Amino acid sequence: MPASLNTYKEKIRQLEISFPGISNNFRFFLKKALKYSDSIIVLNDDFDILDHEMEIIEGFIESSKNKIPIEYMLHEAEFYGRNFYVDNRVLIPRDETELLIDILKNYDQKKDLKVVDLGTGSGCIAISIALEIPKSIVLGVDKYLDALNVATQNKHIHQATNFHVKQSDWLSDINVYDFDVVISNPPYIDPTDKHLKDLIHEPKNALIAADRGLSDIKKISIQAYKKLKIGGILMFEHGFNQADEVKKIMELSNFHEIENFKDYQLHPRITIGKKLA
Ligand SMILES: C[S@@+](CC[C@H](N)C(=O)[O-])C[C@H]1O[C@@H](n2cnc3c(N)ncnc32)[C@H](O)[C@@H]1O
Repeated sequence: MPASLNTYKEKIRQLEISFPGISNNFRFFLKKALKYSDSIIVLNDDFDILDHEMEIIEGFIESSKNKIPIEYMLHEAEFYGRNFYVDNRVLIPRDETELLIDILKNYDQKKDLKVVDLGTGSGCIAISIALEIPKSIVLGVDKYLDALNVATQNKHIHQATNFHVKQSDWLSDINVYDFDVVISNPPYIDPTDKHLKDLIHEPKNALIAADRGLSDIKKISIQAYKKLKIGGILMFEHGFNQADEVKKIMELSNFHEIENFKDYQLHPRITIGKKLA
């Protein structure tokens, strides 16, 4: 028995109370997964939904009840104007991370940068740099092969020939000593942070770091200093309340000219330091 679009709209409306945001996601899902036009979604409540589409919509409702992010359902997340393949092997790219790309593009006028992105995950940062600064060479490093497989898939989707991947525990297996830029959005959430209960589907390895979220930032800072050329920069995304501590960590690793940048909510979110000698 075919159902009308309105039957599902009504169902979704009732679910909105328990699952806030499901209505917006439903509209987005209909467009992306079933290629429904805006005019059908908004104006055509009597529109007949085919049997196989009903199954797909039921799947959406079930996944929404299980709090699976829409990006994992669609296997797609937008980052810096491009669509990246994602699944639960990698973190879903966040809006605030795009700032790293903006800052790097403005910071360095040199175009043939040698860049390493530590904890590349989907490859969103590294591939965006590779495409935005086409003369650069960008290495994406991750400890987990699962993540590197997703990054490689995105390399092919975006034909980013100047992006390469390597498995390594941060920089320990990278024998390069003349990077212009080490960039990283590492795991930085305190293991006791209450927000973790909302992030059940994303890989814990991508989110949590010991030592109140700072242990990976400390390791990377020490290692990056050895692998950067003189004049090279280290760029971190970090937690909104970690800027002072990240600055101290970078000073202890001998970085200079340390600068902080705020995100769109005006939280100090990105810190950069330079290797001077
Ligand atoms: C916060 S996610 C960032 C993912 C992606 N760069 C982004 O911004 O969306 C951190 C990444 O660090 C990786 N990672 C965790 N520990 C690592 C380690 N010891 N060495 C290398 N990568 C690691 C995780 O697998 C994950 O992909």
